[in-house]
Amino acid sequence: MSGAASLPALAADARPKAYQRVLLTNERGDPFKASSLTVQTNYVFHYPFEATPVFLLDLGKAVPPSNPAALKTKGGESYAWPGGVGMKKSIVAFSAICAHQLVYPTQQLSFISFRKGTPVNAKTPNHGADLIHCCADHSQYDPAQGAKVLGGPASQPLCAILLEHNAKDDTLTAYATLGGELFDEFFKKYEAKLSIEVGSKAKNAVTQRTPVRELDKFCRNPVKC
Ligand code: FES
Repeated sequence: MSGAASLPALAADARPKAYQRVLLTNERGDPFKASSLTVQTNYVFHYPFEATPVFLLDLGKAVPPSNPAALKTKGGESYAWPGGVGMKKSIVAFSAICAHQLVYPTQQLSFISFRKGTPVNAKTPNHGADLIHCCADHSQYDPAQGAKVLGGPASQPLCAILLEHNAKDDTLTAYATLGGELFDEFFKKYEAKLSIEVGSKAKNAVTQRTPVRELDKFCRNPVKC
């Protein structure tokens, strides 16, 4: 089994925060095979709460752990990120709630997503590709570096979602977050909206299983900017 079976001891201030262990599944509820991910394609699942979306990405190349204390929350807590999981150590997951003003993907609209090799416009100083980009105010995050902020007004990386990969059956299990969580602010800001979109279970912890979908199938209007 690759990935951490228990919370990794990462030398830094911010520690992994454990939530329920939740198996990623396909839309039929069968275990999702990590090797079925299309490389550099946006997938979404919800964790650790029913209404909190997560980006799941296979970056197509091994993603090493960050240096110790390479990342920092807006509260000043530093942390190291454990890198990719899976056969090639290329699979990563981050909360899809933008660390600037909490923009997130819904079934109707998504301003934030991973951009594969797309040229960026003049408002985006980092002309690199393969970044998570938020069109609201052009924050850019590097998924190969723990979602470190590379541009724009975001004051901290996207919160990492820690995954365990079971090499025997090629499944993925989410088990913790690492970094600056924004769930309290998210639920406060979008309380009314979430009650319509998700209903009374919005703040419920996800238990046991969570389905993975391609962003382009989950969301009717993925905005590109
Ligand atoms: S909300 Fe994402 S950059 Fe402002």
